[in-house]
Amino acid sequence: MEKVKPEAQIKEIRKKLNKWAHAYYVLDTPLVSDSDYDKLYRELQDLETVYPELITTDSITQRVGGKLLDGFKKIEHKTPMMSLGNAFNEAELREFDARVKKGTNQAISYMVELKIDGLAINLSYVNSQLVTGATRGDGVIGEDITQNLRTVYSIPLSLEADLTIDVRGECFMPKASFASLNERRDLEGEAVFANPRNAAAGSLRQLDSKVTAKRQLSTFIYTIANPEQFGLTSQAQALDFLDNHGFKTNHRRQLCQNIDEVWAYIEEFRDKRHSLDYEIDGIVIKVNEFSAQEELGFTVKAPKWAIAYKFPAEEAETVIRDIEWTVGRTGVVTPTAIMDSVQLAGTSVARASLHNYDLIKEKDIRLLDTVMVHKAGDIIPEVTRVVLDKRPKDSRAYPEPTHCPVCDSVLEKIESEVAIRCMNPLCPAQIKEGLNHFVSRNAMNIDGLGPKVLEQLYDKGFIKQVSDLYYLTESDLLQLDKIKEKSANNILTAINASKTNSLEKLLFGLGIQHVGAKAAKLIAEEFKTMTNIMSASKESINQIDSIGPVIVDSIHKYFLVPGATELINSLISAGVNMDYLGLNLADTLQVDSIFNGKTVVLTGKLFTYNRREAKEKMESLGAKVTGSVSKKTDIVVAGEEAGSKLEKALELGITVWSEEEMVEAFNESKDN
Ligand code: IVH
Repeated sequence: MEKVKPEAQIKEIRKKLNKWAHAYYVLDTPLVSDSDYDKLYRELQDLETVYPELITTDSITQRVGGKLLDGFKKIEHKTPMMSLGNAFNEAELREFDARVKKGTNQAISYMVELKIDGLAINLSYVNSQLVTGATRGDGVIGEDITQNLRTVYSIPLSLEADLTIDVRGECFMPKASFASLNERRDLEGEAVFANPRNAAAGSLRQLDSKVTAKRQLSTFIYTIANPEQFGLTSQAQALDFLDNHGFKTNHRRQLCQNIDEVWAYIEEFRDKRHSLDYEIDGIVIKVNEFSAQEELGFTVKAPKWAIAYKFPAEEAETVIRDIEWTVGRTGVVTPTAIMDSVQLAGTSVARASLHNYDLIKEKDIRLLDTVMVHKAGDIIPEVTRVVLDKRPKDSRAYPEPTHCPVCDSVLEKIESEVAIRCMNPLCPAQIKEGLNHFVSRNAMNIDGLGPKVLEQLYDKGFIKQVSDLYYLTESDLLQLDKIKEKSANNILTAINASKTNSLEKLLFGLGIQHVGAKAAKLIAEEFKTMTNIMSASKESINQIDSIGPVIVDSIHKYFLVPGATELINSLISAGVNMDYLGLNLADTLQVDSIFNGKTVVLTGKLFTYNRREAKEKMESLGAKVTGSVSKKTDIVVAGEEAGSKLEKALELGITVWSEEEMVEAFNESKDN
């Protein structure tokens, strides 16, 4: 077998991963499953760990974000990044067409593109490598956000062709990413972003690019700064050129022969725009032929050969009838506007989250106010403003709630958060939410206990806290609506089965603020038993990688409350397991590696790894690496020119591996 040099292997893997990532992020047509992708990605990561000297800046593993910045440097654009003139109706669009016709004698066509609602960016490639990425700024000078843009998968870190080129486009947050980001922020009591554009801007202005990396941004590239340099003569050609060189362009573009066709396109997308995965705020119409563009030229601010048709902001007017306050699992109290139902962007809307009291105050939203609503990110209904002219004369500012709408205990405003919280751990609303969380899939995973069943169990006084679930009887369950013997038994079996869950599921299920499923796993893995966790010092919890002080404080606080110990004791008495049952990382490595417990001798010249690296790798996989061959030796890895040790191994009938077999075994070991 021919030896696989790591350089070649790494290059090959990178090529494959880039191809898959391009198919997924740029072409939207995945070639392989996520798990196949992840597997190969991990293989590359491991090879790069062993050979850090082979890491290149354009390796796909380098998209995770870099070091923290103090601020953004300024970057002067090679040619100014201009903005566009606007047309707000058909007449203004036809005026633009007339101006174009007057300004050139050539027959022209229009390239019509979606106007993506994001942030304009400039990407500079030198000899195929991405060197800088910048914001538009004032059009002349932008900010250097290279580190952040490098985390955006649709932006190539290097090009296959050796190009030196500046390209421009829009960086944006897809609607779905925006919705889930805001949902998470709302849950955590953090301020939500008003729309995907703000969310994208906030993500790109992060000094910590690791945060940007998590934000799932994307791009559409639509301009080459100097297209003539590449022999291109039209916008249509430029877009195809960008496609062919690995950039993500928007394929809903259309070449139109006249302004009537342009108008038909606009009308088509006025209806279709809500079904797109990203927000658009209009349509950009560009004279297609560069020679005509040149003839037409520029005004001070914008090209005369292009215009943005702006869709009217989609808003609807309605009246606020009530503000409903709900209490979440962690006690955060959130307001929802209850409104007269209106049609908006394709659906009927009657409720809109107001997120927190600060927002009510800031927008001065009052009961019976007439308000304008829109859909943030085209999905989430939001009150944009109050129509003051229509405010009832006797209206009064909406007061800040002081007491929990469910348990009436005094609410607290946490400094550094916009949220107001009910601090009563016995608040029925919190308990019900907590019960739902406890039985959920990533927590104790108890089937059959939906919100309606739990609510009844609570309201009828059968359960007051999660541990009471383990003391339920069949006759309790039979008193609930729609629960017959069979489902009662299924529920009891599911509850019983959850007693043997591993510690991390219970820890997550307790619903300790900030302790997500991942943190729970790490903590359970480290401390092994609930008793250890309860008595752990803050410092020792803090020592776990990726567990920060916020989580540490929250855990510490949780177990200080006497009720917490009582709850755990009650769970213990019910027979709920309190131990971590998974394998720790070191165990996993050993169990899943062929090297585990083996005595290995290395001999001869190695090429893929040097002797020390190979030894360390085997030891990390549970092997004992010794210097001489004896009956106790399990494997001899024989490199080139192996001498007496190989002879002895053969003599003793010991398994002999080539270097390739060793590398293969490394790759098959679980930590790879
Ligand atoms: S062309 C010389 N094409 O709209 C002008 N812009 O109001 C170059 N935008 O700053 C812009 N989608 O951020 C162009 N397909 C598209 C666009 C687009 C969104 C943004 C861009 C620009 C703004 C102009």
